[in-house]
Amino acid sequence: MEKDLSNHRMNYDKDALLEANTPENPIELFRDWFLAADASDGVHEANAMNISTIGLDSFPKNRMVLLKKFTWEGFIFYTNYNSEKGKAIAKNPNICLSFFWNTFERQIIIKGIAEKLAENLSDGYFESRPDGSKLGAWASEQSEIVSSREELDTALASYEDKFRDNEIPRPKHWGGYLVKPISIEFWQGRPNRMHDRIRYTLESDLNWKKVRLAP
Ligand SMILES: Cc1cc2nc3c(=O)[nH]c(=O)nc-3n(C[C@H](O)[C@H](O)[C@H](O)COP(=O)(O)O)c2cc1C
Repeated sequence: MEKDLSNHRMNYDKDALLEANTPENPIELFRDWFLAADASDGVHEANAMNISTIGLDSFPKNRMVLLKKFTWEGFIFYTNYNSEKGKAIAKNPNICLSFFWNTFERQIIIKGIAEKLAENLSDGYFESRPDGSKLGAWASEQSEIVSSREELDTALASYEDKFRDNEIPRPKHWGGYLVKPISIEFWQGRPNRMHDRIRYTLESDLNWKKVRLAP
């Protein structure tokens, strides 16, 4: 089988990213780009991001997760701490997040250090989830091999029974990570592959160095 994609190409010309229009703090620019993407009908889930970890097998692995909050401190997502990514992060907390909002011809790449979120914050977010998602967090031993779909459905049914008429507590193995950024790179597509790339690197407490990179 062969499928040639050599003619698949786009010219990017929607916007520019010039130093003069960039703030001192990259989280501000992240916020501006995120809010634009989130408000656009052309972006389905603006908070879907790719995260890559270095696995226990020494290979990088990417997968999508949902960004659930960002603050001056960093970026928060939720998952199962016993999952493949959870085990990878326990061994090596250096991770990379990326967003691609194709309607805007924009990419953001964030390198950072992941740390478990304070338990009370994970509790607060878990509490806000629909019951179905709460039960799913109990029923799925994320990233483990399962024998069949039926095994999953049976596990879900058993937790439905267990917690019927009761509050569903947060499983201790499920919670958030806060990713504290050490570098944030903004990419704006430009014509003729002469894209704009501005990278911020954290130098010391809240002091970011900004450079332009060749496309
Ligand atoms: C759009 C999208 C959003 C997702 N959001 C999450 C999420 O917030 N948390 C999560 O654990 N998995 C999420 N997933 C599933 C992950 O991509 C992945 O399959 C799962 O976390 C297991 O990854 P791991 O085995 O590498 O740990 C999402 C998948 C997609 C496609």
